[in-house]
Order: sequence, then structure tokens, then C-alpha cells
Amino acid sequence: MIIEPRTRGFICLTSHPTGCAQNVKNQIEYVKSKGKIEGAKKVLVIGASTGFGLASRITSAFGSDAATIGVFFDKPSTEGRPGSPGYYNTAAFEKEAHKAGLYAKSINGDAFSNEIKQQVVDLIKQDLGQVDLVIYSLASPVRTHPDTGKRYKSVLKPIGEVFTNKTVDFHTGKVSEISINPAEGDDIENTVTVMGGEDWKMWMDILKAENVLSEGATTVAYSYIGPDVTKPVYRNGTIGAAKDHLEATAFKITDELKSIGGKAYVSVNKALVTQASSAIPVIPLYISLLYKVMKEKGIHEGCIEQIQRLYSERLYTGEEIPLDEKGRIRIDDWEMYEDVQEEVMELWKTATTENLSEIGDLEGYSNDFYNLFGFKVPGVNYDKDVNEMVEIPSEN
Ligand code: NAD
Ligand code: NA
Repeated sequence: MIIEPRTRGFICLTSHPTGCAQNVKNQIEYVKSKGKIEGAKKVLVIGASTGFGLASRITSAFGSDAATIGVFFDKPSTEGRPGSPGYYNTAAFEKEAHKAGLYAKSINGDAFSNEIKQQVVDLIKQDLGQVDLVIYSLASPVRTHPDTGKRYKSVLKPIGEVFTNKTVDFHTGKVSEISINPAEGDDIENTVTVMGGEDWKMWMDILKAENVLSEGATTVAYSYIGPDVTKPVYRNGTIGAAKDHLEATAFKITDELKSIGGKAYVSVNKALVTQASSAIPVIPLYISLLYKVMKEKGIHEGCIEQIQRLYSERLYTGEEIPLDEKGRIRIDDWEMYEDVQEEVMELWKTATTENLSEIGDLEGYSNDFYNLFGFKVPGVNYDKDVNEMVEIPSEN
């Protein structure tokens, strides 16, 4: 079939298998071009099919020749209906990994559930024995708690007062003012339950109890801080409360892993266009200005550049991992450079519908958004008939 993008707000209902595969190949080439990393050899990635998790899986596999198990929640294709991008990404990743002689298997299902955790444990026991790195990169708006069966929904709201600021509809380029009402009722708790550290800890608990973590195993989860303009809706908002919880959980996990000399880290990453971040108001305007400034300075990075740098310049240098005053790894350092932030804030003040395409990188934002779904990828012929029925090799 011919597959075209069908967007509705900040989601795209279709995705393109050839474009997704090309994205994966480009990321693999990038990692290979940067040379070998003396990293972990057996890696579990939770949230492995898109964004930072996919980049982590690719960096482990093609940077360190690692065997990888990937966990994600994606929709397979059905006759006449494309699957979700993570499905096509993973199919392409596995194909390339197997071609390179690398072990790669995937489990598609709800990572929050006990069943999927047990399946992963069984697969590790069967194929790898133990893993030495666990990347935790889930981004989800909902979580069904495995103990109670209760379904929690996260919200993106400020805490305490109404937040009013500019935002952009990146499809039309229209800059407008948006007001977001503060969290009420159980909003904060619910968001922490979905995006905080409880599930990460549950994963590490079961992996340790089942003896599938090797001596000195490391686990890394991803967080975000960002600038003052997004603070009320991000870091000081409901999602920020969840990130505080996630970051605090790293210390609990490290305590728990002491007996095997293991460690848990949180890495603070840069703001990037992913399915998760497109849904947060105000952030798209910030990102489009940030992209402009960072590209002009030649320091723009995507997910793969970020994670390749995380591995090669933070995790696996052979020296102690540099941490900030709160014990976190920082690869948002370039985003947070003073001159970058000052320039972004200057632009922020003046940004309007009329000047945004000039002063911001709206086109870069929009391209990245379409790329997430395999569209507008250079070199892909979208007029060509494509088979939407793609399978993930290890799922057969
Ligand atoms: P993403 O949406 O691209 O990836 C989310 C992954 O989680 C996908 O593989 C998806 O299949 C998987 N997933 C979602 N629900 C699942 C479930 N129930 N079971 C199994 N898998 C499930 O998101 P992302 O932007 O790469 O975010 C990953 C992490 O990075 C998050 O913690 C996010 O807060 C953090 N982060 C993102 C940014 C950003 O700007 N995008 C910046 C810093 C940190
Ligand atoms: Na991810």
C-alpha cells in the first residue's frame, strides 16, 4: 500500500515501515562511525522501541556488540493498517542486529505487568544467564498497577496555581497563549504512580531476586529538568514530581544492589521531539527555539547523539562517572549552557506566529515529528508501494 501521514493533533495515526527502517539504519551508522565503546555486553532495555530507549538499544548493540533484549508496547500491523512506529523500528533493528551476528530478542507487552516481567526473567535465564545493564526508558500516560489492577492516568499540570504562557501548534505555526489549570485531587499521586520510580524498582527487585543481574550490574533511567519557562508545567509540575520520585528511587535501588556491587543512575537528557514530549504544552515552542540556537552553534543532538555521548563520555570512560550535586548524570549540559539558555529566552520573549518560522526551527521540529513515524525521511520513496505487514523476527 501507499502510506501517508495522518495526523491528529500531536499524534500520527499511520507510520511508514521503510522510513522507520531507514531511521534505524541511520542511527546504527552513526554509532558505528563513532567507534567502539567498552560497554555492557548483555543489556535489557525497557521502553526499547522509540526515542531514548531505542537509541540506547542501538548504542549497546552497535557500539559494544551487546546482546540485547528489548521490551516495549507496540501495535503490530494488520492487513491494510500500519503498525506503530516502535514495531517497525524494532523489526528493522532486529534484522540489522542479526545480520551483524548480534543476539536480539524482543518482548511486546505491558512492562508494568508481572507477566511481562516474568517473561523477561525467563528469557534472560534461557538465553543470556544474566544481564549487566538495564536501561529504563518508559514513557506512558497510563499504568495498570500489577498488585491492585487499578489503572492510573498521569497528567501534565502545574502544581498550586494556573500557569499561563506561550505555546505553538507546530502543524500550523500558530503561537498562542495557553492557560493550564493546576493539579487537583489525586493528580500528583497518579502521575507519580505512572511515571515515578516504583515500576523501575519493581523491575530491579525481580531481576535481583531471580539472580539474573550480573556482579556490578548497572541500571540507568532517564529524566529531564529544562529551563525556567517550562518549570511550572514540567519540573515543578506533576511530571516533575514523578521525576523527583524517579531520581530518589535511584538511591534506593543502589542500596538494594549493594550485595552485588551494582548501581542505579538517573541521566538527565536533553529536550527532544519524541511522542512523549510533543504532548506537553509549551515544550514544543521551547524546543523549536532551542533547536534553532543549538543548530546555529553546531551543538544540536538527537536521541542517538545524546545516548552515544552518555555511553562514551559518561558511563564507559574507565573513570568514575561524573555526577551533579544531586547525584545525577548530566547530558543536558549543552542544552543548559548559559549562552544557549540566554539566547533562547531572548527569542522566547519576541516569538509570535509571524516571526517563528524565522527565529525558531519550526521546520526542524515538524520534520523530527514526522520522522518519528517514518515520514519525510531523506532517501525514502514514499510513492512506492510498501508492504505494511512487517514482522519482528524474534516474535515469530
Ligand atoms: P518514547 O515515547 O519515545 O518511548 C517510550 C517507550 O516506552 C516506547 O518504546 C514504548 O513502546 C514504551 N512503552 C510505553 N508504555 C509501555 C508499557 N506499558 N509497556 C512497555 N513499554 C511501554 O519516549 P522518550 O521521549 O524516549 O522517553 C523515554 C524517557 O526519557 C522518559 O522517562 C522521558 O521522560 C525521558 N526524557 C525524555 C526527554 C524528551 O525530551 N523526549 C528528555 C529527557 C528525558
Ligand atoms: Na524510549
